[in-house]
Amino acid sequence: MDIEAIVKKMTLEEKAKAVEGFGFWWTQEFPELGVPQIQVSDGPHGLRKMYGTPGKESETITAVCFPAACATACSFDTELLSEIGHAIGKECQAEDVAVILGPAVNIKRSPLCGRNFEYISEDPYVAGKLASAIINGVQAEDVGTSIKHFAANNQEFERMYGSSEVDERTLREIYLPAFEMAVKEADPWTFMCSYNRINGTYSSENPWLLNDVLRKDWGYKGMVMSDWGAVSDRVAGIAAGLDLEMPGSDCVNVERICKAVQDGELEEEALDTAVKNVLRLVQRGIENRRDEVFDHEKDHKFATEAEKECIVLLKNEGKVLPLAKEEKVALIGGFAENPRYQGGGSSHIESFKVVSALSLAEKYGTFTYNRGFSEKEDVVDEKLQQEALDAAKDADKIVVFAGLPDVFESEGYDREHMKLPACQNLLINQLVRTGKPVIVVLHNGSPVELPWADDVAGIVEAYLGGEGVGEAVMDVLYGNVNPSGKLAESFPIKLQDNPSYLNFPGSEHKVKYAEGLFVGYRYYDTKQMDVRFPFGYGLSYTEFRYSNLRVSRDSFTADEGVTVTVDVTNIGDRAGKEVVQLYVADKTGSTIRPVHELKGFCKLALEPGETKTATFTLDKRSFAWYDVEQGDWYAPNGLYTVEVGSSSRDIQYTADVRIVGSMVKPPVISPDTQIGELLENPYTKEYTMECLKPYIDKYTHGHSSDEMIMALVRFMPIRGFRSFLYLSNEEVDSICEGLKKNIEEQMKQENDA
Ligand code: BGC
Repeated sequence: MDIEAIVKKMTLEEKAKAVEGFGFWWTQEFPELGVPQIQVSDGPHGLRKMYGTPGKESETITAVCFPAACATACSFDTELLSEIGHAIGKECQAEDVAVILGPAVNIKRSPLCGRNFEYISEDPYVAGKLASAIINGVQAEDVGTSIKHFAANNQEFERMYGSSEVDERTLREIYLPAFEMAVKEADPWTFMCSYNRINGTYSSENPWLLNDVLRKDWGYKGMVMSDWGAVSDRVAGIAAGLDLEMPGSDCVNVERICKAVQDGELEEEALDTAVKNVLRLVQRGIENRRDEVFDHEKDHKFATEAEKECIVLLKNEGKVLPLAKEEKVALIGGFAENPRYQGGGSSHIESFKVVSALSLAEKYGTFTYNRGFSEKEDVVDEKLQQEALDAAKDADKIVVFAGLPDVFESEGYDREHMKLPACQNLLINQLVRTGKPVIVVLHNGSPVELPWADDVAGIVEAYLGGEGVGEAVMDVLYGNVNPSGKLAESFPIKLQDNPSYLNFPGSEHKVKYAEGLFVGYRYYDTKQMDVRFPFGYGLSYTEFRYSNLRVSRDSFTADEGVTVTVDVTNIGDRAGKEVVQLYVADKTGSTIRPVHELKGFCKLALEPGETKTATFTLDKRSFAWYDVEQGDWYAPNGLYTVEVGSSSRDIQYTADVRIVGSMVKPPVISPDTQIGELLENPYTKEYTMECLKPYIDKYTHGHSSDEMIMALVRFMPIRGFRSFLYLSNEEVDSICEGLKKNIEEQMKQENDA
């Protein structure tokens, strides 16, 4: 396809038509111009392809449901994510799907967001790394992805109208980096803008978001489509950089677009750009088509193996797990029979086959099964409860399959609380009272309150583990698999502990992200608050020892960066995997920052007695914060601590490092500039000392110690001397002029040198 030539040939109307979809899942075709159609399909944890006549599809194919993102994130395994991407990419090829709609990288701001199960993490670094891995996997199969939902779409409440009110620094540091990293490390074929508004402007018509940040700052060259129904003003959208409206709106916007171009409201060039971006995607889709076979059985097996890498062992008191074959185990809870393994909404897969734990139990050991409670609703059934309690009396150990019923969390609405169904908590408490060890397996898409956490012996977090979840859980329970997942989100003790609590889900169509940067562990760790389970936490059936933390240099420029290595040894008697985490703590005091932030992780597989070295490369971004004034990332000179550990709360070793050579900004000089700022800044320190010393001495009447003088004048503006030492306006102005001149001279000297 010669895209330039095609666009030249197109009428205005054809161009306006080309920038909207055809029906729900296709792009428009223009046979006379040689432009075919391509099909897109949901994702992200499997293929939800609709089929039938294009534009009128009514059936969904049977596909393999992989673990949802809430689960795969816990693997912290980029290779695994890439392999899942490959598998889904191949399925897309087999089904003639050019673009899969995902991954979804919105940050888990509140545990209540109904769609958290589809999202990766509360941490932008984890979200960005894992999303990049999956995108690279899919795209290596020559199928496109659509990273979504760009941006600040962190709740379902009023998702199509509400405005996320977020300051720029928070956007740049928390809500945008996963998208940014994906652009830089994986280059997704497409972006999907979100439904919501950001600071009052819809993402679908937000020039700052789509053109300034995505295209100019990050250099993105692909196509941007709307989320389904996210377009409000289509003309504003084209001007702002939204290429494709999805789904097709039966050409209702064609006339509007044409008129806007004819009236000069919309530049034709902007429309041409959008058309070219759409056609480039079509070309990519067509040229990369190839035959593949969708091997359901093989992918089912792989989905099961994947979940085994994701399950998180949260508690294992007295080594209650793994279970032994000969132990009598009472399996209880409807989820043993009907696991909840995926969430509701656009990602819902017509699953090939779902394996429950119960269906396999016989192969693993001696067991009884009692439903105890329904997995579908929160209703106490005393008969079921009693049967479960009776069965438990004869057991050595009790395993309760608990979780959130489908209706509790889904795309489209948020949860109202963070609790498990009361009927489940009730039975778990009753089972605890039998005195037998109780192990709880959780099937949920987002953290739940665990009021009985201190009383049970074991907790296994399976999340929404895909269609093979039953086998994966049984393998973990019986020790065929040594669990290696770690939480990609914090589990607060109660909902009220969450930093967004006071501002979620907002009011008057606005949700204020008042907690700013302090999302998830950034908040809990900075506040030193107790949490139920911290970010990055997860147990193993073996143990690991960290040793020998090394940094390649103690002091370096931000551009040089540093390499950090640490040795990890499996000191237990079985093979296992450890997710080693690296956090950076800024000690420069240059601005308000969380106490530490994750800047690296890696998963090591270790045989008993084996030692491996984890290596982390830290660059400027690992240390930097986003300085809105400069419009850039800034890693100020000074001290940072590199922390290495097995969760955000289990730091094993630290090393101090120092950044040197970063640009230092001189203070802005006016009569309002505070003396403290002048004395702390290398550009003004000396001059200030010299020029203000006599005044300072006079102000403090020579009584105070140096330390006290500095503390006293720190928050005194230069003009303060007018009020307290009777300086004239002219004298104040002349001090300011002197400072400015002195700064200029120093900067000139630096430039010359
Ligand atoms: C969801 C998207 C999804 C799209 C198409 C929207 O409602 O927000 O994630 O890809 O529908 O089904």
